[in-house]
Amino acid sequence: MKITGGISIIGAGTMGNGIAHVFAQHGFKVSLVDVSQAQLDKAITTISKNFDRQIAKGTASDLEKRNALANITAISDMEKGVKDAELVVEAATENVELKLKIFGQLDRLAPTGAILATNTSSISVTKIAAVTTRPGRVIGMHFMNPVPVMKLVEIINGYETTKEVTDTIVELSTQLEKIPCVVNDYPGFIANRILMPMINEAIYSLYEGVAGVSEIDTVMKLGMAHPMGPLQLADFIGLDVCHSILNVLHDGFGNPKYAPCPLLVNMVMAGKLGVKTGEGFYKYEAGSKDLAVSERFR
Ligand SMILES: NC(=O)c1ccc[n+]([C@@H]2O[C@H](COP(=O)([O-])OP(=O)(O)OC[C@H]3O[C@@H](n4cnc5c(N)ncnc54)[C@H](O)[C@@H]3O)[C@@H](O)[C@H]2O)c1
Repeated sequence: MKITGGISIIGAGTMGNGIAHVFAQHGFKVSLVDVSQAQLDKAITTISKNFDRQIAKGTASDLEKRNALANITAISDMEKGVKDAELVVEAATENVELKLKIFGQLDRLAPTGAILATNTSSISVTKIAAVTTRPGRVIGMHFMNPVPVMKLVEIINGYETTKEVTDTIVELSTQLEKIPCVVNDYPGFIANRILMPMINEAIYSLYEGVAGVSEIDTVMKLGMAHPMGPLQLADFIGLDVCHSILNVLHDGFGNPKYAPCPLLVNMVMAGKLGVKTGEGFYKYEAGSKDLAVSERFR
């Protein structure tokens, strides 16, 4: 099966706008659905600005931008937004109850043959599929942030995902000029099963006074050729997101090695969530390009 027609994206936040950008840039008609009109408006503005950045770098043209924006319909009514979909990519807030509710609705509202994909970072694809009448057509399509830049799509086979559906999503990812990587559905899949314990260990190293924020990040950047240190990356992802993924790993495997570091737990409770709140391990001031360690860790 080859996807040629409508793509519906549920959720127009950080990931949803990036996913819409990439599909629309590759000629697909996209319905971008969100419960919040403000988020839809913001998403279209963000997509337009991100195209301007690509144009300045020479990786997209004005014509591509116009065509892509014309391919996107922003819509707040899910029923209208998914009625002609061949593929739905859900990128709503990372919350199990919400995702189960959305997949129940999608199963009722999207055409019977449509593939239902989730961009979840950690929630079980098998659990999500189980609330639908088509578990064989439910799959994980995990894009990385920022979507227009990052090459990987981690494709997650749920327990019942059919080979035809996996092959279709692999081919589609290649059409989007991404590199697909197929994995099975266990807590954290591959990306976060490996990344999150590393981030947690970096936070433990800080918590136990082994080294400071800059030293930990510098060792990993210069010593391991990571483009960004683990503490800066945690700020970028969001400390609340890191915390909830570690909890999924901890609950899913029942192994204490995945327990979130108490310092991470405290920072989340204090609302120091990283870039999105202006402070995490570093302090983020509007307009400043310098990376300054938060006062707390100096
Ligand atoms: N942020 C990342 O770096 C990242 C990376 C990979 C995967 N993910 C995953 O992508 C998904 C989205 O994350 P995000 O960072 O874009 O979140 P976000 O908070 O930026 O956006 C979520 C959007 O979902 C919308 N929403 C909530 N309920 C909805 C509903 N019932 N119907 C339609 N829209 C609804 C919200 O209004 C919001 O606009 C999550 O599952 C997350 O784990 C995030």
